[in-house]
Amino acid sequence: MKHLQQFITGAFVMATAAIVFYSCQSNVKAAEEKKVASTPVAATLLPTVDSAAIPHDKYGDAVRYGQELMYNTAYYIGPEGINGKYLGNKMNCTNCHQQGGTKPFSFNLMLSHEHYPQYRAREGHVLTLAERVNNCVTRPHNGRPLPLDSKEMVAFLSYFRWINSFVPKDKPSKGVKNLEVTLPDVAASPERGEKLYVQHCTRCHGAEGAGQLRADNITYTYPPLWGPYGYQPGSSMHRVIKQAQWLKANMPYDKATWNKPFLSDAEAMDIAAFVNDDSRHRRPDVKNFDYPHINEKAIDYDKGPFADTFSAAQHKYGPYLPVIGYWEAKGWKPSY
Ligand code: HEC
Ligand code: HEC
Repeated sequence: MKHLQQFITGAFVMATAAIVFYSCQSNVKAAEEKKVASTPVAATLLPTVDSAAIPHDKYGDAVRYGQELMYNTAYYIGPEGINGKYLGNKMNCTNCHQQGGTKPFSFNLMLSHEHYPQYRAREGHVLTLAERVNNCVTRPHNGRPLPLDSKEMVAFLSYFRWINSFVPKDKPSKGVKNLEVTLPDVAASPERGEKLYVQHCTRCHGAEGAGQLRADNITYTYPPLWGPYGYQPGSSMHRVIKQAQWLKANMPYDKATWNKPFLSDAEAMDIAAFVNDDSRHRRPDVKNFDYPHINEKAIDYDKGPFADTFSAAQHKYGPYLPVIGYWEAKGWKPSY
């Protein structure tokens, strides 16, 4: 009897355990199924484009000219351009949008075709892609805008459509946005940045940041980082966080890759602070700094008025975390 009781109790315990086990299993399974359903598809690295695939028709001709313009901008539309004098300096688009805008993590342009028209905070209204191109013609290139119906503008837009055609539409791509940098607790330091610049950048961009012109004088082997032929202070490259994110994946040119950055985040911030320190380095004058709605201003933009109580210096060099905290408390979206 005792044995039978023990047997029954034992069986009961086992059965209960089995039920508990089974229901746990099915809970785990349900949770896993839910996870599968809600896990976003893993992003894959942006593909390379195949120039041999540019069609041999009128559209293809526009794409080919657009690609030429990305790489040899100054030759065609620079200060002495053979097809028009639009740029104020001899840089090429590819100096920042590397590999003609197709290099991942280098202000990549492969999604631009499908991202416009878009509301832009700097201008405070909706911009077409053509108008956005002209922002780069006027700011980093310190030039005058291309007519919207010019052969050159049509070529840029055709090229952007063509590079977009390689992007998979069914899954997200990695490398559209630049790498992120961890924002340090302390302000970025031009003084520390100067030492790092001498160590890692001078050999190509020069002690005076003037770069090195090519022997034919049309454009640069190493583009300038400041001075009268560098980008304007109204350019996004002039923002410390923005530049640091780009430097991390791309500079020094012969040492950094996106998956093996050379500079630490803090070093990239310090160097960007040095390069963009206007008290040391002159740049072309700017007519206007935009951002009609000041609580949409990028937090690392250094021109007031500001929507918060932080100084121009703190906006420029940080520390940014208090600024971000202030904005979030106000319910505004801090961008950088
Ligand atoms: C000194 C660097 C520099 C140069 C030179 C430059 N750009 Fe840019 N460009 C930028 C930066 C920085 C951005 C902003 C990227 C961001 O906000 O992440 C940008 C943004 C753009 C965008 C918007 C991309 C998008 O999807 O929103 C386009 C289009 C563009 N540039 C085209 C050009 C063209 C065409 C040229 C040559 C005429 C050019 N850029 C030259 C730095 C540069
Ligand atoms: C080995 C030579 C080399 C070194 C070293 C180097 N760069 Fe560059 N840099 C280049 C070249 C070449 C380009 C143009 C890239 C292209 O056209 O693909 C460039 C482009 C740039 C640009 C964008 C274009 C412009 O002129 O505004 C910035 C900013 C920049 N480099 C900053 C730096 C900084 C900061 C360092 C040091 C951490 C550095 N580079 C080290 C060769 C170099």
